[in-house]
Amino acid sequence: MPNRNGEQWLDTDGNPVQAHGGMILKHEDTFYWYGENKAGPNVVSSIGGRKVDFIGISCYTSTNLKDWHYEGLVLTASEEPQDKLYKDKIIERPKVIFSKATQEFVLWFHYDHDDYLYAACGVATAKSPIGPFILQDIFKPNRKDCRDMTIFEDGEKAYLIHSSDFNKTMYISELTEDRKALTGLYTKILIDQEREAPAVFKRNGLYFMLTSGTTGWDPNAALYSRSPFLFSPHKLIDNPCEGPNYRQTFFGQTNYAFEVDGEVYLMLDHWKPENLQASGYSILPIEVFGEKKRDLRVVWTEKPFGGKYQ
Ligand code: GAL
Repeated sequence: MPNRNGEQWLDTDGNPVQAHGGMILKHEDTFYWYGENKAGPNVVSSIGGRKVDFIGISCYTSTNLKDWHYEGLVLTASEEPQDKLYKDKIIERPKVIFSKATQEFVLWFHYDHDDYLYAACGVATAKSPIGPFILQDIFKPNRKDCRDMTIFEDGEKAYLIHSSDFNKTMYISELTEDRKALTGLYTKILIDQEREAPAVFKRNGLYFMLTSGTTGWDPNAALYSRSPFLFSPHKLIDNPCEGPNYRQTFFGQTNYAFEVDGEVYLMLDHWKPENLQASGYSILPIEVFGEKKRDLRVVWTEKPFGGKYQ
């Protein structure tokens, strides 16, 4: 059975893909899918939230965007209660970027305590895309909160884009050339709009960002925003989703936008809060249309990539 959008996906061994809140990176001729491994039972957090204890960050590889081979955990939970990567910590939305300057792979993620009040980011590095990634740092970007986040590469520059100020406002923080730290340059966008789960791409000279609202594991309406410059106000435009349950993002949540063969795709997580390890995925084409190609459409289809690589 081929994988279907909105459902759990299977890897080449027939096991559920455990790569939630993740991303797909192309390096040389291989696609690397990184994400949260949630292959454990739900537990109740200290604030009554539903979660799975931290297991690690998975990596799957593919050369055809259809068959995903499990490479194992590239960052692994620690057995030591005093360790920063102990299983009670929250490590979410892993994003990997390759540094041309150092030839290293750099993994960024949202790092938190069980109550989500620490609100930091973490950085780990590896020589190989399949790890192991070694933790380098955990900090508050520019002394601001970091909860849901992504990494966006724009030519020679790259940015950490993170929900901040108790999820009220999105921040864009510039990365250093080695991609392991921040330069100190940052700006705020979508001020007081309470958006999270940012997925960013550039098309026709415009920066587009798809985000979700802030309702935890429960789906809500996605919105897109756009701006001619990354470091300038981004205007919230509309919900780009079309199809059944479009007001709940097809019962999914935005996660990551990426380009293959000139087309842009959106990754969604379909969270199953009552059993998080059973959460599903979608990869949907993003259509940029209109006379000046300033508008977006994400049309529901059960076929990953709209059927292109299936
Ligand atoms: C969502 C967030 C997820 C996860 C969840 C926990 O708002 O997008 O990544 O943190 O809350 O409830």
